[in-house]
Amino acid sequence: MSASQSQHPVAPIRTLDKNGNVINTVGFNRFGFDCEVSLDVLRSLYLRPHYVITAASDKVEDAERLQEEETEHAKFTGAYGAYQSKSIFHPDTQSISYTTLSRFPPVKLLPPSQRKRILVTGGAGFVGSHLVDRLMLLGHEVTVLDNFFTGSKTTVSHWVGHPNFEMVRHDVVEPFMIECDPSSPSVEIYHLACPASPPHYQFNAVKTIKTSFMGTLNMLGLAKRTKARFLITSTSEVYGDPEVHPQHEDYWGHVNPIGPRACYDEGKRVAETLTYGFHRQDGVDVRVARIFNTYGPRMNPFDGRVVSNFIVQALRGEDMTVYGDGKQTRSFQYIHDLIDGLIALMNSDETRPVNLGNGDEFTIGEFAELVRDIVEKVQREDGVRDPKRVNIVYKPMPTDDPQKRRPDTTRAKQVLDWEPRWTVRMGLEEMVRYYKAKMIEGSL
Ligand SMILES: NC(=O)c1ccc[n+]([C@@H]2O[C@H](COP(=O)([O-])OP(=O)(O)OC[C@H]3O[C@@H](n4cnc5c(N)ncnc54)[C@H](O)[C@@H]3O)[C@@H](O)[C@H]2O)c1
Repeated sequence: MSASQSQHPVAPIRTLDKNGNVINTVGFNRFGFDCEVSLDVLRSLYLRPHYVITAASDKVEDAERLQEEETEHAKFTGAYGAYQSKSIFHPDTQSISYTTLSRFPPVKLLPPSQRKRILVTGGAGFVGSHLVDRLMLLGHEVTVLDNFFTGSKTTVSHWVGHPNFEMVRHDVVEPFMIECDPSSPSVEIYHLACPASPPHYQFNAVKTIKTSFMGTLNMLGLAKRTKARFLITSTSEVYGDPEVHPQHEDYWGHVNPIGPRACYDEGKRVAETLTYGFHRQDGVDVRVARIFNTYGPRMNPFDGRVVSNFIVQALRGEDMTVYGDGKQTRSFQYIHDLIDGLIALMNSDETRPVNLGNGDEFTIGEFAELVRDIVEKVQREDGVRDPKRVNIVYKPMPTDDPQKRRPDTTRAKQVLDWEPRWTVRMGLEEMVRYYKAKMIEGSL
């Protein structure tokens, strides 16, 4: 018997939106377009999709420990334990027996006329994997194309073997050929492949700009040939260190073309140029999302992005590092809001660039304090009576780090009827639980 069915029912996690209403679903159902999915099902895919328990001996303590582990696990999975894989660690032999899923989560059964064929490049990364989960739950056929530079197979491994899913190891810098029956329903390409965090995109600047330019060229060529609708995930970095606040889509930006961030910023700018080149010259149906800072579960905890840095440091009881004087501001969007926006944009008629971001602005110093409070709150809820209060320390600012960035999302509101629903606090709380689960699992 799993703990979710046991005598100790576990209180589910309650999530409130900006207006204080409980969030049960993500996605939306409007303009005759339904892309809603249950938050609990989605959570079962990322909060603890795979967990490890230690094999039990005949001892009573072991049975109790196992029950405790199952109860802890059920907190994250609710009634969806059947869609999780549980592996058993054998301490005597230092070995682990992996299991696969016993059952895939239910996906919508769409009539063939509505089932889309969707290619997601970079689908094994942070944003890509959440997009894949959504598109799969909505019942589409999804192919992931990824070279696993920053992404990992584990982020989407829960779909491997599903009849609607395919994963291909491929570098988008090389051409990719697939055929598509011209009578098949709509074909879509979400082009995300590109490292997104500064240490990763600066690791090999020439490769980053090649990925942005040649990768986008190849994928646009594919879109042209297969008559696919093409969406590229551009970035707020195209605005550089902006002189206009908040940034709206008609602002051309203020970018240093030779600084250490240029491979990414200029790469995305040229990728946008290419996208509109194919649109004007070849009639490719394009969508351009300019994404602002986004955070959420499955973010690489060690890639230097501020949210994961702060949470991991606070959970480990280490000092939290703020670069600069902490007065620079940032806005943070939760991953589920971003995915809502990407799907809405793909299904809209809007071919101009659209900003997707959360306008609630925080100074980095304030943000560090908020993260510290939430980590303490989650620790208290999980039974730590007196959680350790960590220090916040200040270090010099890296080159070209923009002072201020905030999206103007008027266009997204007007054309997509989209606006962020998640509060930063609620998103952070979920992310703290995710990293905490990873720590319990031993993978962080
Ligand atoms: N996360 C954010 O806050 C944010 C903000 C703005 C824009 N974006 C954009 O969203 C997209 C996804 O970002 P993310 O945060 O998920 O980053 P990520 O690094 O987690 O994911 C990128 C994915 O692309 C893959 N990839 C990289 N180079 C590739 C190549 N040459 N060929 C094939 N696959 C390749 C990686 O392996 C990884 O799976 C990127 O295009 C990024 O520029 C993200």
